[in-house]
Amino acid sequence: MSTNQDKFKKIVSHAKEYGFIFQSSEIYDGLSAVYDYAQNGVELKNNIKNYWWSSMVQMNDNIVGLDSSILMHPTTWKASGHVDAFNDPLIDNKDSKLRYRADVLIEDYIAKIETKINKEIAKAKKRFGDAFDEDEFRKTNNRVLENQKKIDNTTSKMKKCFEDDDLVSLKQLIVDLEISDPVSGSKNWTDIKQFNLMFSTSIGASSESASEIFLRPETAQGIFVNFLNVQKTSRKKIPFGIAQIGKAFRNEIIARQFIFRMREFEQMEMQFFVKPGTQSKWYESWKENRMKWHKALGLGDENYRFHDHDKLAHYADAACDIEFNFPFGFKELEGIHSRTNFDLTQHEEYSGKKLRYFDPEINESYVPYVVETSIGLDRMFLAVLASSFNEEELKDKNTRIVLKIPGFLSPYKLAILPLVKKDGLSEYAKKIYDDLKAHFNIAYDEKDAVGRRYRRQDAIGTPVCLTVDHDSIKDDSVTLRFRDSMDQIRVKVSEIKKEIDNRINISNWLS
Ligand code: GAP
Repeated sequence: MSTNQDKFKKIVSHAKEYGFIFQSSEIYDGLSAVYDYAQNGVELKNNIKNYWWSSMVQMNDNIVGLDSSILMHPTTWKASGHVDAFNDPLIDNKDSKLRYRADVLIEDYIAKIETKINKEIAKAKKRFGDAFDEDEFRKTNNRVLENQKKIDNTTSKMKKCFEDDDLVSLKQLIVDLEISDPVSGSKNWTDIKQFNLMFSTSIGASSESASEIFLRPETAQGIFVNFLNVQKTSRKKIPFGIAQIGKAFRNEIIARQFIFRMREFEQMEMQFFVKPGTQSKWYESWKENRMKWHKALGLGDENYRFHDHDKLAHYADAACDIEFNFPFGFKELEGIHSRTNFDLTQHEEYSGKKLRYFDPEINESYVPYVVETSIGLDRMFLAVLASSFNEEELKDKNTRIVLKIPGFLSPYKLAILPLVKKDGLSEYAKKIYDDLKAHFNIAYDEKDAVGRRYRRQDAIGTPVCLTVDHDSIKDDSVTLRFRDSMDQIRVKVSEIKKEIDNRINISNWLS
């Protein structure tokens, strides 16, 4: 098993052991790709939401919020194209009866060849040491060149199948590449069929009057259908944006990589409405803005990259992803899309209602263009969790697991730990807790040796621990111990709030 896979396994079990994430309905053996956020997870998740919301709505006087419903009129999804085109190409193995996404089977095949190339490079690096030139090696080594050619050929063939909507050739590609079922090894495949990802349910009191409706697969449509209501009541002038955080549902067939791909998940989306013709400028500006937001968190600039889309969805005139270096490689964290006026025009057509903006500057009405930023809250959670997870060897040769979460996102900002329960230390510590609890989330722990209590707080990412000792009662001072450096300082009780605030105040990150 590679070190990254190993680390990922540890992160997943840590998330459970320390009360961040549980499998949904675990006592019934769980529900695949559905998860519950536990006592520490919900705090971290709420803090991430708050960071996104504040940076959108509080920091921009031309962005307002919205909380639209999950259930929408079924015609919404006809107009948006989701009923006809929100599909995954699926293939069944006739022997194992297992179902796969055809494109994922091919991508996994490509990933295996990439692993071979990387192994070849790692071997050469070891052999040549500092003199090793990776670019030159990639250009000249025969085995690497041969494998790279296989990857390029496969990628372009797959791309063509999708461009031509040609599922027969897509199946033939799987057969030609001799791809087998990863579980059974069988190559006995059915034809490929498109499968709609929306969950449906019914609305209505009796079975005769009930009609089919969908759980929303994205929050964006709630923003589009409310565009004019919000614009008129907020009196915003274009350009302006509407931000929303909410649940979305997709019947994902390939459910794996923990909370990366879920069936029920949360999105944080912002639709920015602009004058036609200015969309490229705004697209570039939001690309830059969103990358800055990510990097400001301090999870490591090298962990982010843009991936521009070659093949654009029918409604987009530009699109890219911000990818994050998850333990299983660089993968999409956020999408930024220039969606033209497609959605609003479709809703005009299907509803028969005008969704136009009267622009007083040019004395004309038009359907605005839209630049969208769309980030998965759960993926953001995973990015924070995975990059903060550290196993450290200490000076005394013991190890500790520490989550180096940016302080303002941590579930608890401070842990109060009386050295012993007796001699009035608990009462003194509880008084500090009561005086500070209105300002930030505080953990209180008086069980076990203080070293073990430090470890418990390190493991959930609490940035500061405060110990109350016998001297505290005499001189009104306490010891603050910092999670990352493990340094300790002595401060007066009256100074605690200022010391913590300096380290966890969200305004330090927002500005
Ligand atoms: N409104 C645009 C839209 O929904 P998308 O690329 O399909 O675009 C946006 O989704 C973001 O939502 C993705 O970048 C990802 O972070 C998140 N996301 C999508 N599907 C997901 C899933 N099954 N589980 C978790 N997050 C998901």
